[in-house]
Amino acid sequence: MNNKIIIINGPNLNLLGEREQSQYGAITFDKLKENCINKSKELGLKTEFIQSNLEGEIVNLIQDARKIYDGMIINAAAFTHTSVAIRDALEIFKKPIIEVHLSNIYKREEFRHKSLISNIVSGGIFGLGDNGYILAIIAIEKLLKYEN
Ligand code: DQA
Repeated sequence: MNNKIIIINGPNLNLLGEREQSQYGAITFDKLKENCINKSKELGLKTEFIQSNLEGEIVNLIQDARKIYDGMIINAAAFTHTSVAIRDALEIFKKPIIEVHLSNIYKREEFRHKSLISNIVSGGIFGLGDNGYILAIIAIEKLLKYEN
């Protein structure tokens, strides 16, 4: 079965609901996780939803994920704009990857306009708040179903 996915969240996303609600909305990390798990179950996906503030830990998660999961959704948060190490790990994954950002990174400070991972992922969603995660789950389910 091509139905195991991992949703990886980068630094400070554990503080959703508390940080910059004007950018990220009022949803808490726990509620976002619950919504993603529920949507995944509805679509028959087995989903792990995790968060780390540490770059190396995210690299390890991505490396380990290639042996376990069929697809990935990643909001690398601030590391999106800085981490060659995360980009390199994602390139090794070699299965569908969807990049998500809650905020519209292109409407914000210039340093957020550059994503180091956009040109190696399958596709991306930004600026749609927590709905972006749900849309990414719907999209990856289709990518996995029609793969092979
Ligand atoms: C973010 C956008 C990043 O620029 C920022 O550093 C984040 C969250 C988003 O989801 O909009 O932490 O990835």
